[in-house]
Amino acid sequence: MTLNLSRRKFLATGAALATLGTGRTWAGATSDLHTRVADVQLLPEKYGQTRIWGFDGMAPGPEIRVVQGARVQRRLINDLPNATSTHWHGIRIDNAMDGVAGLTQDAIAPGSTFQYDFVAPDAGTYWYHAHNRSFEQVARGLHGALIVEEPEPIDIDREEVLILDDWLVDPETAQIADTFGAMHDFSHAGRLGNYITTNGAYNLSMPVKRHERLRVRMINAANARVFQLALDGLEGWIVALDGMPLAQPRPIDGNIVLAPAQRVDLIVDVIAETGDTGHIVQIDRTESFSQVAFEVTGDATRARRDAPRALPPNVHAMPDLADATNLELLMEGGAMGGMRGAMMGGQMSSMRDMMQSGNFWAFNGAVGGMDGAPLAALSRGETVRLKITNDTAFPHAMHLHGMHFHEIAPDGSLGALRDTTLLNRGEVRDIAFVADNPGKWLLHCHMLSHAASGMMTWIDVA
Ligand code: C2O
Ligand code: CU
Repeated sequence: MTLNLSRRKFLATGAALATLGTGRTWAGATSDLHTRVADVQLLPEKYGQTRIWGFDGMAPGPEIRVVQGARVQRRLINDLPNATSTHWHGIRIDNAMDGVAGLTQDAIAPGSTFQYDFVAPDAGTYWYHAHNRSFEQVARGLHGALIVEEPEPIDIDREEVLILDDWLVDPETAQIADTFGAMHDFSHAGRLGNYITTNGAYNLSMPVKRHERLRVRMINAANARVFQLALDGLEGWIVALDGMPLAQPRPIDGNIVLAPAQRVDLIVDVIAETGDTGHIVQIDRTESFSQVAFEVTGDATRARRDAPRALPPNVHAMPDLADATNLELLMEGGAMGGMRGAMMGGQMSSMRDMMQSGNFWAFNGAVGGMDGAPLAALSRGETVRLKITNDTAFPHAMHLHGMHFHEIAPDGSLGALRDTTLLNRGEVRDIAFVADNPGKWLLHCHMLSHAASGMMTWIDVA
């Protein structure tokens, strides 16, 4: 593979490589999490500082790291000018702690606090983010990594957590573009940024040793961007998706697709020579950019190793497809051909209605949200098979709270366990899960502008 690593679009050439740490905070170091406004050097030095909203004033926020089965306790102190709440994405959590303002709790008013307290039952890569006006609050920087370690250490030399994000920034002022709620974002692909970062740095670089084995945990925190990634000078395997281990590590040959909110855990061996640089490459249409650079500074003490072993599985109830409740979710609406479907529910009679209400999408013929009836009322332990049809012109990353689901492969077998599944235009996907976590759980598009404009529903498990 020959890659042409060119520079990102609006950045001037000649800027030095930025090497930034991730601002780690270990569990127990603090029991408070402050959401607050802060000015940070998001853009390269020659630009001014950028005002963000961050957990503890950082974007990404402090890494929260616990061992599987541990309790996570954080008192959220909201010092933002707006109400907020915090969702622990991918955790099979107690419903009252799920952090969905308007469904599982009231939004936390400015100056108020909320005590989050839950157990993290599954090892894996998770994240936390704002869940009130999330199309704005996540884009302003309110997200961070939540890492749940396996009880036994994995055979690696070191680990890197990489949070991918894109920002819509005005290069003149260095400020985040205040275009939240723009009708175009609501009705098209969502809010796409012009400035892509890893752990808050636009050109993250780190030293490695040849033959070093890394575990790389990647989190897509962007509002709408689907990252297409590839390895260069690195050899790797996918070992987990959305936190959940694959039964067998999957060698990477080709692109890794990471939709908003999705995570992927890789085992990566450095194969580039000393003095060379390996890359995680981001492919944007026909161009390639270095998402993360690994500068090879010497040889590791250990020689090249065999393929990695699978991570220990998280214990999950297996869906019984022969005895499943079948549900359907038809996704319609949006610009470029899908509007009519969304109007047919009768709530909207014209394009103007949609513009005025700010709703552009429909689930099963009606504008979605969390106020109306649930998509389904399920009894605990029921197996659900849900057929999702994307009859729109855009990709959507559908996320279920509270439980992971299996994607069902074309041959009918149970595929990987996920909490967020990407449906490209015209795609149909069947998913199956055991509804074994009681409560009210959202099911929504993680293109966050879409969730705010009709692509949201919920299920009730009693
Ligand atoms: Cu990652 Cu409803 O959210
Ligand atoms: Cu969507």
